[in-house]
Amino acid sequence: MSDTKFKVVITGATGGIGQEIVKLLAPKASHIVLVGLFEAELNALKTTLKLKNAHVVGGNINEQSVRQKVKALCESLGGVNLLINNAGINDFDLYENQGEAIIQRIVEVNLLAPMLLTHALIPLLKKEPRAQVINTGSIFGYIGYPGFTAYCVSKFGLRGFTQALKRELGDTKVSIRYFAPRATQTKFNHDNIVLMNKELGNAMDAPEVVAQAFMKFLGKSSGEKKLGFKESFFVFMNKLFPEIPEKSIIKQLPIIKKYLSK
Ligand SMILES: NC(=O)c1ccc[n+]([C@@H]2O[C@H](COP(=O)([O-])OP(=O)(O)OC[C@H]3O[C@@H](n4cnc5c(N)ncnc54)[C@H](OP(=O)(O)O)[C@@H]3O)[C@@H](O)[C@H]2O)c1
Repeated sequence: MSDTKFKVVITGATGGIGQEIVKLLAPKASHIVLVGLFEAELNALKTTLKLKNAHVVGGNINEQSVRQKVKALCESLGGVNLLINNAGINDFDLYENQGEAIIQRIVEVNLLAPMLLTHALIPLLKKEPRAQVINTGSIFGYIGYPGFTAYCVSKFGLRGFTQALKRELGDTKVSIRYFAPRATQTKFNHDNIVLMNKELGNAMDAPEVVAQAFMKFLGKSSGEKKLGFKESFFVFMNKLFPEIPEKSIIKQLPIIKKYLSK
């Protein structure tokens, strides 16, 4: 895919990671569709970044009407060859203490919405000489972690979706890929998570660094990218010898629970 011809849809464009990706990607795009909850915030982003090639769709990505708006806009703009499913939410809490509504919302926003938006846009993606879907996953899409059970489920699921659809579209020019940041300094992580990460010695990336890694990944053909050497090693161990990371995670429980109760 030529660098100058990206035709982009990005969800979660107003978020910490989304904004930084938009900054780097917009100059390489013929058009970029910014999707987020609030149209006013998307327009403010467009103005601040002076994006002449940006178009906005505000609304809840879980609503079919919003996804159809995105599709119609892409059709009117001449297509889409890069869909970035980046919107996401979390809720740091013990699973047993979470209400049904938030568990459902996490799965809807993080898993079902990317599945359905991809489904809506596949016909357009297939019309392109080459196209790709990049799903923003997480290191927690490989490692189950306390306090993030529903979130981990959503990101494991997103990885499964990525793998299955990648294979299903293996005889087309559409590739489906998984980009997995580690903890990142955005509003996604409230103060307790930041303090817990500090006490546990977990690194947190700046969103600018994550966006740079995303751009590198965009230029490559690998199916997935995990950020962080220590985290990638943990993922490797979790796959081969899950009892080893499990022991150390269970040892962390008192610290995790301390920040959950604050
Ligand atoms: N931050 C981390 O530690 C971390 C680590 C690994 C992976 N990730 C993943 O990276 C992605 C971006 O996270 P971030 O850190 O940039 O989070 P963020 O700053 O909270 O941004 C999340 C974005 O998603 C949008 N959004 C949430 N629910 C939506 C919905 N129903 N419909 C449309 N848009 C919706 C938000 O809109 P508003 O701005 O209007 O709320 C915001 O633009 C997520 O998928 C997250 O799971 C984050």
